[in-house]
Amino acid sequence: MLIRDADLADWPAIWPFLRRIVAAGETYTWDRAVSEDRARALWFKEPPGRTFVAVDPDGTVLGSANMGRNHSGPGSHIATASFMVAPEHAGRGVGRALGEHVLDAARAGGYRAMQFNAVVETNTSAVGLWRSLGFEVVGTLPEGFQHPVKGYVGLHIMHRRL
Ligand SMILES: CC(C)(COP(=O)(O)OP(=O)(O)OC[C@H]1O[C@@H](n2cnc3c(N)ncnc32)[C@H](O)[C@@H]1OP(=O)(O)O)[C@@H](O)C(=O)NCCC(=O)NCCS
Repeated sequence: MLIRDADLADWPAIWPFLRRIVAAGETYTWDRAVSEDRARALWFKEPPGRTFVAVDPDGTVLGSANMGRNHSGPGSHIATASFMVAPEHAGRGVGRALGEHVLDAARAGGYRAMQFNAVVETNTSAVGLWRSLGFEVVGTLPEGFQHPVKGYVGLHIMHRRL
């Protein structure tokens, strides 16, 4: 698997799984019916933000991630990031590889820490993956997320120093 910077030519490969993940409404605080234009604008970050894709040797896009400043001005030394792995390629290390890549990119970019703003507490694979990459839950917004099956559940803020 290769992880590289994404460009707009990758969007047609990202959009089908991104749409599926967002429409499921279980992991992202996005409008579940987000339009393609809005989704593209949200996923492709303005510099110094970056967007990455993980690709198979045959060029198949397996997943994508983005990163950038979590806040601006005096808060701009903390990075944030988002991840989506195509469901048919989940569970084979793509998320972990993207996570490690994003952490390296944030270190290289001079950020002091990384913060995830909205990790749904029932998203146990994500919470477990981020913990294993050194993140800890620094707070949980009670009932911050309305899960389509589990109802109101907590939203974790997760953090690790770089
Ligand atoms: C969360 C997500 C990014 C993980 O990516 P992935 O490629 O499936 O994860 P990996 O294969 O790298 O697995 C990493 C770890 O997650 C855990 N994990 C993965 N799939 C799991 C599952 N179905 N159940 C429980 N744990 C699981 C394992 O502990 C694994 O650890 P290991 O590397 O020691 O085996 C991916 O499933 C995804 O895009 N989900 C939908 C969107 C989302 O939740 N994004 C993150 C929002 S915070």
